[in-house]
Amino acid sequence: MTNDFTQISCLAGFQGQEVTLAGWLYQSRSSGKIQFLIIRDGTGLCQCILEKGKVSNKLFEQLKHLGQESSLTVTGIIHADERSVGGYELVVTDAEIISVTTDYPITPKSHGIDFLLKNRHLHLRSQRQWCIGKIRHTLIDAIRRFFNDNGFTLIDTPIFTAMAAEGEQTLFEADYFGTPMHLTQTGQLHLEAAAMSFGKVYCFGPTFRAEKSKTRRHLTEFWMVEPEVAFIDLNGLLELAENFVSFIAAKVLQNNKGELETLGANITALEQTKAPFYRLTYTEVVDILTSEKTQKFLTRQLENLQNTKQQLETQIGELENEQKGQIKQWQKDKIAAELIELNAALAELNTKIENNPKHAKLATEFQWGRDLGGSDETIISQMHDKPVFVTHYPKEAKAFYMKTDRENDKVVLNFDLLAPSGFGEIIGGSVREDDYDLLVARIKDYGLDIENYQWYLDLRKYGSVPHGGFGLGVERTIAWLTGERHIRQCIAFPRLMDKVYI
Ligand code: 4AD
Ligand code: MG
Repeated sequence: MTNDFTQISCLAGFQGQEVTLAGWLYQSRSSGKIQFLIIRDGTGLCQCILEKGKVSNKLFEQLKHLGQESSLTVTGIIHADERSVGGYELVVTDAEIISVTTDYPITPKSHGIDFLLKNRHLHLRSQRQWCIGKIRHTLIDAIRRFFNDNGFTLIDTPIFTAMAAEGEQTLFEADYFGTPMHLTQTGQLHLEAAAMSFGKVYCFGPTFRAEKSKTRRHLTEFWMVEPEVAFIDLNGLLELAENFVSFIAAKVLQNNKGELETLGANITALEQTKAPFYRLTYTEVVDILTSEKTQKFLTRQLENLQNTKQQLETQIGELENEQKGQIKQWQKDKIAAELIELNAALAELNTKIENNPKHAKLATEFQWGRDLGGSDETIISQMHDKPVFVTHYPKEAKAFYMKTDRENDKVVLNFDLLAPSGFGEIIGGSVREDDYDLLVARIKDYGLDIENYQWYLDLRKYGSVPHGGFGLGVERTIAWLTGERHIRQCIAFPRLMDKVYI
């Protein structure tokens, strides 16, 4: 089969002409003499209209009973039609069924998340997963473009490593021909070596963390991009990060507005993602968390959640009544699907209502010195309409390699970038300790085996310079951009703490 089919995304150039589409049957309905077939070809959706008499009666009947996700080619004339998905319609002159599907397990009715994860190999064909995949593609392209166009050299850092950088409790162990080894938690340490050769470098690859937390923000395998720069200070890093994040958000807005709309993303908020971002120190964040203003903010939030809950319950009640009435089967199915969605939203609201007082308590009782927890980050991030930098964390709460602030050695020269509207941390970064003796002391303080860090210490022996960098998590960034709550939806085949489905 030669691939001279027309792609749905290119139909604009084919008005009035005959084309052949090759794809899968996404949805269909029929009203006697006319059939409406929505075809999905990987580039978009197109409604195809088939009148009785245009093809053989046998084919007409076969198409009428063709199951969702059957594969086929459809030939016909293209017409612009604003009401149609994608803006074009195809009036069928011929069709060929390639493979008949019966009982496709994912129907237009809603399914629970567990079922969908188990069927991820098929669920990837859904509109939501397709939109997210397209956005991920743009994001990754934009990430590479930004660094490539700004003088950075790509360095591929190893996945097998003997070193721990982000805490030994989240290391995945591997048996490397009898020698214990880990899967990398970050490319940073090797990247620091490369920065001393190339000046500005980045690595981009999969990263592994044996996170023992089943939160919406954690995967055990995720993708991280990490730039590292020689001769840079904390301000330089913040500027780099805000220019970078503004650039990638703008690219996704430019290339994927349609997908963002389908996903219900907050486009107006994304359009505000422009430098400068907000800047707070950790100490200022502690003051905010423990303030009366925050308690009031959370009380107001609780009231809003309870109001929304009431509205949802009313809506569910009305639909349940409607369902009991004398209605057609397809209407019942439609209501059943809506009810599944609404009940899922209600369950989520209930969790938020339950968590609100717990999070309020954690915030009031927050003690200087602790790392910010997920709920603390969420609160700060909910209070802002643009990304927020939090800088100067207590050194005990952070990694061994971070440089202490020489004016106040209780804190380090680091930052996290919190995405707005409650999404939380998407970047972690810092200036690196460049003093040999101080770094040796830190490695020992953290109980790490100094032998494994000899080469890393060499970088402080042979032409040490101030340097630093950061890491941006791809899946968390997608969750923020798309408004998707859980990052397991932001990678095609997620690896979760409790389960690897396929
Ligand atoms: O803050 P982290 O741990 O920073 C580092 O790894 C540094 N070595 C980076 C550097 O300075 N070169 O991780 C960076 C980012 C987080 O902000 C988050 O977006 C993402 O990686 N991340 C995760 N994403 C998904 N699942 C997890 N378990 C993640 N852990 C971190
Ligand atoms: Mg972090």
